[in-house]
Amino acid sequence: MSDRRDSDGRDEETMAEHVMRPDEAIAALVAPEGRRDPYPIYEAIRAHGDLVKIKPGLMVAVGYAQCSQALRETRLRVQDAKSYDAVFPGWRAHSSLRGYADSMLYRNPPDHARLRRLVSGAFTPARVQAIRPAVERMTDRLLDRLADLGADGTPVDFIAEFASRLPIAVISELLGVPEEHQAWFRAVAEDLTLALEGITNESRLDPADKAMDDLSAYFTELIAHRRGRPPEDLIGALVQTHDADGDRLGHDELIGNLMLLLTAGFETTSFLLGHALLLAFQHPAQAVRLRTEPGFATDYVEEVLRFEPPVQATSRWAETEVELGGTTVPSGTKVVVILAAGNRDPVRFPQPHRFDPDRPDIQPLSFGAGAHFCLGAPLSRMEARIAMPRLLRRFPKLAAAAAPVRRDTWVGRGLDTFPVVVG
Ligand code: HEM
Repeated sequence: MSDRRDSDGRDEETMAEHVMRPDEAIAALVAPEGRRDPYPIYEAIRAHGDLVKIKPGLMVAVGYAQCSQALRETRLRVQDAKSYDAVFPGWRAHSSLRGYADSMLYRNPPDHARLRRLVSGAFTPARVQAIRPAVERMTDRLLDRLADLGADGTPVDFIAEFASRLPIAVISELLGVPEEHQAWFRAVAEDLTLALEGITNESRLDPADKAMDDLSAYFTELIAHRRGRPPEDLIGALVQTHDADGDRLGHDELIGNLMLLLTAGFETTSFLLGHALLLAFQHPAQAVRLRTEPGFATDYVEEVLRFEPPVQATSRWAETEVELGGTTVPSGTKVVVILAAGNRDPVRFPQPHRFDPDRPDIQPLSFGAGAHFCLGAPLSRMEARIAMPRLLRRFPKLAAAAAPVRRDTWVGRGLDTFPVVVG
C-alpha cells in the first residue's frame, strides 16, 4: 500500500489539492463528499494561509500553531448561554441545551475554572489509574462476547458490539452506575449526543430533551443514594463536593457535568477504536507490532488520534480584537479551529498524510488545548491502549467482512458500522 493513503484508502492523487476559494472550501466541507473525506479540503484552505478569513465575522484556523494558540487564548471564548441567546433565543425551553449550558464545556471565565477544578478534583488521574484492572476485565468480557457472536463465521459489527460498548461500560464503572443500567445509559447518551449536531434542529432536540429529563431524574436518585456515604465512585466524590458547599457546585451544574462526562467520551472513544482497527487492517505490519511489541500501543493510539481525530473541529468567539500568529482577529469574529487540519500541518508533521506511529513527539490537537483540554483524555487513551493489543492477540485472523459505514457528519468523524469476522 502506498504510504500516502488516508483511512478510506484514497491515494495521493485523489487527495490532490483543489483550487478553491476559502468560502467554497467551507461550503464543500459540509457537503456529502466533504463529510466523507474532508482532508483535501483542509489542504485547499491551507493554500490560502494558516488562519484564513472566510467572510466578515468568520475565520478558520488550519495551522498547528494557530489552532493551538487559538485554544489557549483566553480572550477567545467558548459558546455559552449568552451566545445561545444570540443564535437561538428559545433554547432555554430545551432541557438538553440547558444541561450542556450548565456543563464546563459551555462556560467561560470565571465559571469555567470553578467547575473544572471541582470536577477534576473528583475525576483524578489516580481514580482513572485505579480502574485499569476493571477496564482490562471489561475489555476481555466484550472480546468473549465477540467470540461468541462470531463463532460460526458470522460477521459481527465491531462498532455495535465492542467500540460503543467499552466507553459506556468504563464511564459507568467510574461514575458508579450499575451494569444493568448500561444499555439504557447508551441509548440516552446517543440521543443527547445528536442534539449537539444542530442546536436549532427541533427533531433532534425532542429525543434529546426526553433523554436529559430521564437522565436528570436518574442522576438525582443516584445522588440521593450516595449522600452521606463514603465516596467510593466519582458521583460519590462530586456529591461530597456539592454538599460541602452548594454555592461552589449547584445541583444543575452537578447534573450538567455528569451528563457531559457521559456524552463527551462515548462516541468520541467509539470513533477512536473504530479508526484504530481500520488503520490496523490497512497497515498489517503495525497490527503485528500491536500484537507483539509491549508498549507500542501508546504511539499507535497517538498516531490514530492525529490521523483521524474523532472531533474534527471546535469553535471560539473573539470577545475583543486578538492577534493570532501575526493575524488580527476582529472583535466578534467566530474562529473555527480545525483540529484535524492542525494535525496535518506539514510544518509540524513532515509527510502529514502518512500514517506513521514512529514519528517523534506526536502530540496531536485531538483533545484540544488550553483551559478546555479534554478532561477524559487519559481515560480514552487508556481504553484504546488496552483494547487494541488485546483485540488483535485474541483474534489473530480478525478481518474486515465488508467496508465500514461512516457517520455522515463533519465535526464528529467516525464509523457507524464495521462488520468483521473474528476467525
Ligand atoms: C477519543 C476520545 C475523546 C476525544 C477525541 C475528545 C475530544 C475533546 C475535545 C476536542 C475537547 C475540547 C473541546 C473544546 O475545547 O472546544 C474535549 C473536552 C472535554 N472532554 Fe473529551 N474527548 C474524548 C474523550 C473524553 C472522555 C472519555 C471524557 C470523559 C469521560 C471526556 C470529557 C471531556 C470533558 C469533560 C471536556 C470539557 C473540558 C472543559 O471544558 O474544560 N472526553 N474533549
